[in-house]
Amino acid sequence: MLTRVHALRRLRDLGGGSFAVEVDGPIPPTSPGQFYMLRTEQRWPVQLARPFSLYDRAADGAWGSFLVKPVGEGTRALLDQQPGEGIVLTGPLGRPFPRDVADPVCVAGGVGLAPFLLLAREHRASGRDLRLLFGARSRAGLSGLEDVSAAARVLPSTDDGSFGFRGTVGDLLADLIARGEVRAGETVFCCGPDPMMHAVAALCARHGLRCFLSLETYMACGYGVCNGCTVKVQGPRFAGWPYSRTCMEGPVYEAGELVP
Ligand SMILES: Cc1cc2nc3c(=O)[nH]c(=O)nc-3n(C[C@H](O)[C@H](O)[C@H](O)COP(=O)(O)OP(=O)(O)OC[C@H]3O[C@@H](n4cnc5c(N)ncnc54)[C@H](O)[C@@H]3O)c2cc1C
Ligand code: FES
Repeated sequence: MLTRVHALRRLRDLGGGSFAVEVDGPIPPTSPGQFYMLRTEQRWPVQLARPFSLYDRAADGAWGSFLVKPVGEGTRALLDQQPGEGIVLTGPLGRPFPRDVADPVCVAGGVGLAPFLLLAREHRASGRDLRLLFGARSRAGLSGLEDVSAAARVLPSTDDGSFGFRGTVGDLLADLIARGEVRAGETVFCCGPDPMMHAVAALCARHGLRCFLSLETYMACGYGVCNGCTVKVQGPRFAGWPYSRTCMEGPVYEAGELVP
């Protein structure tokens, strides 16, 4: 883990109000699902840096980008920077999606798309297209759709039916299961808003699918010192300890490890 100031290269509009915040390297090798703590060097309006999954990275690490949706003061400050201004990055942090799943079914909601572009590129490099179910309320919320469609086999869904399957991305997964296109024993990787992840985890449990969730727990330090990011857990990985720090043992957990 390193903390370093990186110059902003550009903000690339991904539609729906979200941007790829692209910074100069060096960006260290980073596994899909790992994240960085970000803040601006100047004019940072809040006390703590904010966590973001690495969205994209040049193969040689010469640049990297983060998919940022403005929801509060920190994200707005990041999107308010000018090219050449400094963005402070700490990372890579956290535990990525498991590396040994050859053909996962990926399910993304909104900015939950972020970890899957790198994963899609890795899969394509090894000769296999990633299956990605990508949902939002409407077409505008599918920020980054063009990027990921160039790298993966994307099945889009919108709650209002304005693009792709009509319904939630969980409904889309249920539909694929009902049609036998996703079967018991397969593995789902999921990232998105909490209600969507709960629905996907419950669906997977009912149909015998393994399920890994990337949590967007609120974080303070991002590297294990404040205990501000704990979730209740169970299972052998935690050796009987009932809490886990999302920034260290997560953000990716197997669904059954999380205590509702
Ligand atoms: C591992 C990880 C990866 C992430 N990756 C991305 C990413 O790629 N792109 C992206 O846009 N965002 C991502 N996030 C979420 C992002 O870090 C938060 O939304 C961040 O708090 C925004 O900062 P802010 O100062 O703009 O808003 P804040 O002031 O922190 O929050 C604005 C509002 O949203 C609420 N809120 C914010 N985050 C949470 C939360 N996690 N749980 C409950 N309520 C919350 C706050 O209470 C407040 O009402 C990620 C989070 C984690 C933990
Ligand atoms: S955010 Fe501080 S311990 Fe996880």
